[in-house]
Amino acid sequence: MEYFTASDIPAILEYTKDFYFLDNNEFSMIEKNNISFFDENLNKISKKHKTIDLSNSSSTKNGYEDFMLKEIFEQPKAITNTVNRYILLNEKCYFSGFNLPNDILLNVKEIYIVACGTAMHAGLASKNTIEKLCKIPTYVEIASEFRYRNPIINKNTLCIFISQSGETADTICALKLAKENGCTTIAITNVIGSSITREADFSFYTYAGPEIAVASTKAYICQITLIYCFTIYLAQVLKSTDFNVLKDLKKELLDLPKKIVSVLEKKETIKNIAKHCHLEKNLFFIGRGIDYATCLEGSLKLKEISYIHSEAYAAGELKHGPIALIENGIYVVGILTDPMLASKTISNLQEVITRGAKTFVISNQKLSNNTFDFVFNIPNTSTFLSPIVSVIPLQLFAYYISKEKGLDVDKPRNLAKSVTVE
Ligand code: M6R
Repeated sequence: MEYFTASDIPAILEYTKDFYFLDNNEFSMIEKNNISFFDENLNKISKKHKTIDLSNSSSTKNGYEDFMLKEIFEQPKAITNTVNRYILLNEKCYFSGFNLPNDILLNVKEIYIVACGTAMHAGLASKNTIEKLCKIPTYVEIASEFRYRNPIINKNTLCIFISQSGETADTICALKLAKENGCTTIAITNVIGSSITREADFSFYTYAGPEIAVASTKAYICQITLIYCFTIYLAQVLKSTDFNVLKDLKKELLDLPKKIVSVLEKKETIKNIAKHCHLEKNLFFIGRGIDYATCLEGSLKLKEISYIHSEAYAAGELKHGPIALIENGIYVVGILTDPMLASKTISNLQEVITRGAKTFVISNQKLSNNTFDFVFNIPNTSTFLSPIVSVIPLQLFAYYISKEKGLDVDKPRNLAKSVTVE
């Protein structure tokens, strides 16, 4: 008999599938051939183990150079696994099994999405979609801010907390605050049985599989996917959007994996672009509307693993200050997926070109290759779903820049996978 201790399941998946979970203030003592558990007063308690149904391949690189690359390539499967859990195309009510009473949903007056880092960006990428389909004001907040600012929330507020690990201290404390104020709380997490699920009223899982690389990729797109599934469900309950519109969106969600595969197949193109940029000291990401959220995520990914300073700006904000930083040769990455806003972002890109910037544009629109230094075409999707596709080239971009620089992609300096302290 052998026992191991770890703060995360994948760390020891190679050795066992049977796990005991410790709650707050509990202890365990491992002796030769025996394990015992105690509460905070050191009274002995009994615990049952849980068998975790995950393959060990989730915690090995499976032939890939790095976990991050493996996880980027696992994204089509991760989306399929997540969508299949929540969507049945021809069913009216497919988000069942969570015992989330309709009368709670019918009384929601506003929605808060609270999270940190990439998980918070997933909230930003979903905000417009929730508002458009459900007609409910939706606010996205950084957990470490939300928890200390006495937000005006009450029993008619639905609070959604997103956390890949389910262990992020600020997010969990923000959730406790929401509960104290009588809100209905939903946790969206990738880790079954994680701390956040023990605190939330309802928990929805993403089915991305274990994410090992510090830089989140597949968890991010599954978080957005899951929120969209929930949004469609909520819009059905509220009757706030025509059923056929929702049905089309469901079809599109089911189609996403193919589109992501087609982006991944063009990884060499991104690799070549990355070769041009890896020596840069500063970079900009610009976009409007839903693309702005993708810019924030692309910029964060680049910072985390390449240590290159970058800024993400809503393209229309450039002229209110940051354009002063645009000088000859600086790279500006433009994201352009919303046909309603495309011409506006193009004109902002032209403003930076005039000032000597080099441009790399990711778009599902037809663009002239003569205007920009690099254009990377992505498949067309409904604008609602575009962040799930447009972020993929940015993940690859950050990855290949980091590789060009010879850095440790999976374990960037100063960062931890689970941030369990505030
Ligand atoms: O586990 P969580 O989703 O709560 O983690 C939140 C952030 O720490 C996390 O998303 C972080 O920003 C990632 N390293 C981004 O790649």
